[in-house]
Amino acid sequence: MGNYLDIAVEIAGEAGQLLAQLSRQPHEISYKRKSDIVTDADRRSEAMIVAKIRRHFPDHAIVAEEGGGKETGSDYCWYVDPLDGTTNFAHGFPVYCVTLALAYRDEVIAGVVYDPNREELFAAERGAGAWLNDARIRVSQTGDLAESLLGTGFPPFASNHDLNLQFFFKLTHLSHGIRRAGAAALDLCSVAAGRFEGFWELKLNPWDKAAGSLLVTEAGGRVTDLAGGPFSLHRDEIFASNGLIHESMIEVFSEVLEENGKVSCS
Ligand code: IPD
Ligand code: CA
Ligand code: CA
Repeated sequence: MGNYLDIAVEIAGEAGQLLAQLSRQPHEISYKRKSDIVTDADRRSEAMIVAKIRRHFPDHAIVAEEGGGKETGSDYCWYVDPLDGTTNFAHGFPVYCVTLALAYRDEVIAGVVYDPNREELFAAERGAGAWLNDARIRVSQTGDLAESLLGTGFPPFASNHDLNLQFFFKLTHLSHGIRRAGAAALDLCSVAAGRFEGFWELKLNPWDKAAGSLLVTEAGGRVTDLAGGPFSLHRDEIFASNGLIHESMIEVFSEVLEENGKVSCS
């Protein structure tokens, strides 16, 4: 197993250096859909990562955001987000990262998130803990929602934005505040490292959350859906916390759902 994580760390580091270098040059921006942008850096980073994974693990499947992946029928599948936080990157707002994770039969077994701006490398291996550079990380020990800092995100396209705005509004008043920093993988690392007590988002893809979800659980936190049910890579929503404020936040989510006559977010 060590081999998978070591190679993922090496690849994420190299892709992060490429992003840092490209961030100093003008970007070519194109639109996937309205408000949903992609840059040349997303594509170049993905091409580099996919080529390296294929060289090391030719049989493994790869799912990569910009479409450069490959289905092989293997039980091993890499999830790649070559640039998480594209909008931030395109505007020169220095909050973005590269993230990749390996799942075996849909269970994430190794994951890496690299932030080239802060030179922070988050890595986790199932059963072996979560790390930030050379130090072991743990979720925070704050048990009171009123003393918590939270994070969330709003994807460019979602039918449930209104619902998330209501969660945002209610939780803003019940906590120290909510950050919408713009890179979901880093938000999950903030929970793992004890910077945030909780993070949720209603519409993420598997590559956004694969590595970060493992980081949170390996750092002693809890990852579920917004009702406290099991987390799945293939479902849109995710709710990650230090575990201690989990039930208080679930109560708030369910109050808002009830006020909207809904039983779930989708
Ligand atoms: C986005 C970011 C953002 C989140 C969006 C994601 P991208 O990923 O993680 O924080 O709110 O849902 O799509 O497009 O920058 O890789
Ligand atoms: Ca992403
Ligand atoms: Ca991306």
